[in-house]
Amino acid sequence: MEKRELLYEGKAKRLFTTDEPEILISEFKDDLTAFNGEKKSSEAGKGALNNKISTELFKVLEAEGIPTHFIEMMDDNHMLHKRVDVILIEVIVRNIATGSLSRNLGIEDGKVLPFTLVEFDYKNDDLGDPKLNDQHALILELVEYQDELDKLRRMARQVNDILKPYFEAKGLNLVDFKLEFGKDKDGNIILVDEISPDNCRFWDAETGEKMDKDRFRQGLGGLTLAYEEVLNRILNK
Ligand code: C5P
Repeated sequence: MEKRELLYEGKAKRLFTTDEPEILISEFKDDLTAFNGEKKSSEAGKGALNNKISTELFKVLEAEGIPTHFIEMMDDNHMLHKRVDVILIEVIVRNIATGSLSRNLGIEDGKVLPFTLVEFDYKNDDLGDPKLNDQHALILELVEYQDELDKLRRMARQVNDILKPYFEAKGLNLVDFKLEFGKDKDGNIILVDEISPDNCRFWDAETGEKMDKDRFRQGLGGLTLAYEEVLNRILNK
């Protein structure tokens, strides 16, 4: 299958149509942005690493019964996937406090949360992705029914229940992550976007070393090396 029209260019991916109306191609870019686009850079090889990591993780989740948009990895930087109507809610799952949770609520960085926290952010760059509660989401008509919000939370927890032990077995703590969902042509809610160190935080279980985009956000360097290490652990290399 080949790329046809550019549908949309995001910060980390380009989205193309194909000859099949229900199938799209994502091209994973090497570009990196943080702080709502204020900090920008590019790291050769980053896009391919995220494509490979996402491919493996979508396969793991599909095998455990989570419906996703993933069809196949085409080559280093391209993934074939289903077309959906994206739900403009970023579902954030947290096992350990850090990042905006620690900043906003003063919870000690690194504190293991007493239970898994699931939050909603409004996917809206102009507004800086503000926090949403269920009533906000319904007033904004981001979904039609409360049931759908409950389903997003339920699916996000299922993903965490699968990936947290999966990464623990590979010596990585899954600190937090962001998921996106969409509705397929039959109206089913499925997992979309990517699952990679760009939108997950991984800390090495032994050393506490950050193995994710915080290396870029915090100017720590060694980003692609860390992403490569995450991929190698996934592949048991
Ligand atoms: O910045 P914050 O602590 O809220 O991020 C929580 C998690 O969600 C992190 O893993 C981060 O990478 C991810 N995230 C994201 N895209 C955003 C906001 C957060 O991937 N726009």
